[in-house]
Parts: sequence; structure tokens; C-alpha cells
Amino acid sequence: MTDELSTVSADAQSRIAGAADAAALEALRIELLGKKGRVTELMKTLGSLPADQRKVRGAALNVLKDELAGALDGRMATLAESELHARLARETSDVTLPPRPMPDGRIHPITQTIDELTAIFGEMGFTVAEGPDIEDDWYNFTALNIPAEHPSRQMMDTFYLKTGGAGAPRVLRTHTSPVQIRTMMSAKPPIRVIIPGRTYRSDHDATHSPNFHQVEGLVIDKAIHMGHLKGCLQDFCRAYFEVGDLPLRFRPSHFPFTEPSAEVDIGCSRSGGELKLGNHGDWLEILGCGMVHPKVIANCGLDPEEWQGFAFGMGIERITMLKYGIPDLRTFYEADLRWLRHYGFLALDLPSMTGGLAR
Ligand code: DAH
Repeated sequence: MTDELSTVSADAQSRIAGAADAAALEALRIELLGKKGRVTELMKTLGSLPADQRKVRGAALNVLKDELAGALDGRMATLAESELHARLARETSDVTLPPRPMPDGRIHPITQTIDELTAIFGEMGFTVAEGPDIEDDWYNFTALNIPAEHPSRQMMDTFYLKTGGAGAPRVLRTHTSPVQIRTMMSAKPPIRVIIPGRTYRSDHDATHSPNFHQVEGLVIDKAIHMGHLKGCLQDFCRAYFEVGDLPLRFRPSHFPFTEPSAEVDIGCSRSGGELKLGNHGDWLEILGCGMVHPKVIANCGLDPEEWQGFAFGMGIERITMLKYGIPDLRTFYEADLRWLRHYGFLALDLPSMTGGLAR
């Protein structure tokens, strides 16, 4: 490089190193390498040189150009990094500060109950599974051993969707049980899941809503028996209702997808027209359960000789109403802010088995 070019280089480099911000650096780039920039102007003089000198000078100019472009990029990276550090220092927040009060936001009781269920069953090693609200009638009925003319298809007051004549009939799921099928078909046993979610039936009164919620439970393993089902539901009910000696009664029942099947009652009293949970001699039904029918296991491609387990299903509105003394199911869906302020929960009081379920 000639002395002249060395001077240009040294001068430019020191200005690049001193550029205070991205804008100054960009101005320098234009001044040096832009269309009318210093280096570009020097390049233009090449044409007037004799061929042998032109080659040497051209090479030197290219070196200069690369050097300066490299210096500009390097400085840009340094500036960006120090800007990031400055911003991180500026934007710190103290996570130990107490939360600001949130007077209006409330967690809906249904959400609260789902969080509580998840905390309790989570402690027992269950994970949460989900499935679609719009189901094939195969998942909602057939795979669950509910054949075409079975009365429970009518009993469930199913909403059917228009299919335009093609494909399998589709329904709004009438229960969360189809997710049992989806889970067994997609996960390898052993399986231990709960499935909270929306369900739909054409029914509307003080205790029924066309859109409601259920939670399903499914355990599949090699040596699961009714004793496990009983223990699991007893622990759950006592933890959820926060009554340590809450008695449970298993009454024989029938569901197409379980054999044997049972309905579970919890102890209560109704004296003085007031419902109180506990060991008081009276009973209240809260859920259905049983050992998963071998046909259902086989429908999912598993060998019922190898795998067995239990399932249960429960209405979420019902157990929420019972625990929190909410008298009318329809109020869950009226989006009345006064109701939500009264029955809702604070957003930061997340239920947990160690911190407490609801406060
Ligand atoms: N799917 C039933 C219903 O909606 C509830 C139910 C009963 C689910 C027994 C189960 C079960 O998993 O084992 O009425």
C-alpha cells in the first residue's frame, strides 16, 4: 500500500473507532465507501493509469476497501452489544416486589376447579391430555363400545354436525371419554392422564347447560384393579372437598365402556335444607367410573390380555357448585361481573397441594 493509501486507512480507521453510534457509523460508511465516497473516488482514478501501475494500485485499493468495510462491521457489532448491555441495565425489574392489587380481574370458578384438579392429580403422577371439541362419532360412541342403536346415543342429546353427506358423522363431543380413545391410540402404556374439557348436550335447565365441562381420568397399566380406582378417587375427593374423613360409596352401575362400572357417592347431610359434605349418613352422587372394558382397549389397538386399567368421568360444574356453594348452573355462563367478583378467584392465588387449593 502506498503511503497515501496508508494515511487514508489510518485516518478512516481512527474515525470508525471513534464513531459514537450507528447513525455516525452509517454516515462514515457513505463518506468512505458510498457512491461518491473517498475510496470510490480513488477507484475512479485507476482508468487514467498505465496498465502495469493500474494492476498494483487496483489491488491495493481493494485491500483498503475490505479493511474499511471490516472495520465498519466490527464497530457496528461493538456498538450493538454495548447498546444491548445498556438496555438490559436500564430495564431491570425487581421480581421480589409485591404484586400490585388487581381489584377487577378474577379467575372463573370453572378455571379454578380445573387448576385444583390438575394440582391434585398432578401430585398423584397424572398428566393432562386434551382432545377436540368436534369429534367423529366413532371416537365419541363406537370405539367406546356404544353401538349404533344404543340408547345412550339418544340419552346424551347429541348435537350432530352437518357433514354434507360425505364422511363419518361428526358431533360436538357429549363427554370427555373420546379422549380416552385418542390417548390410548397415540401414547404407549403405562398411561395416567386426566382430561378436563368442554362437553356439549342439547339440554338446558337449572342443573344442565348445553355447554358444560367434564374431567375424565384414565389409568392403563399391567396390574391395575378396582382397589387402585377406589384409593385414587377417595384421595382425590378428600383433597378436593377438603374434608379429611369424607366417606365414599361405590354403587354398581352400568356404562358401555367400563366393566364392572360404578357410580360414586360422597357423604353429606341435607338437614335444615342445607347441604353439608362429610360423614353425616346421607349420600350424594358425584361421578361415574369403572374398569376399562376389554373391547375398548382392543378398539385402540392394545391387547386387553396385557393391558387393563380404570377410568372415571365427572362433571366439573357439579363439583364446583358443591364446593363453593353456587346454587344455579346457568350463572356460570352469564358473564355477570358481579357474580364473578363474588365467586371468582384472585389471579395470583394458584392452587397447589403445598400452598393450599383455594383461599
Ligand atoms: N362419560 C360418562 C358420562 O358422560 C361418564 C363416565 C362414566 C366416564 C364412567 C368414565 C367412566 O370414564 O368410567 O356420563
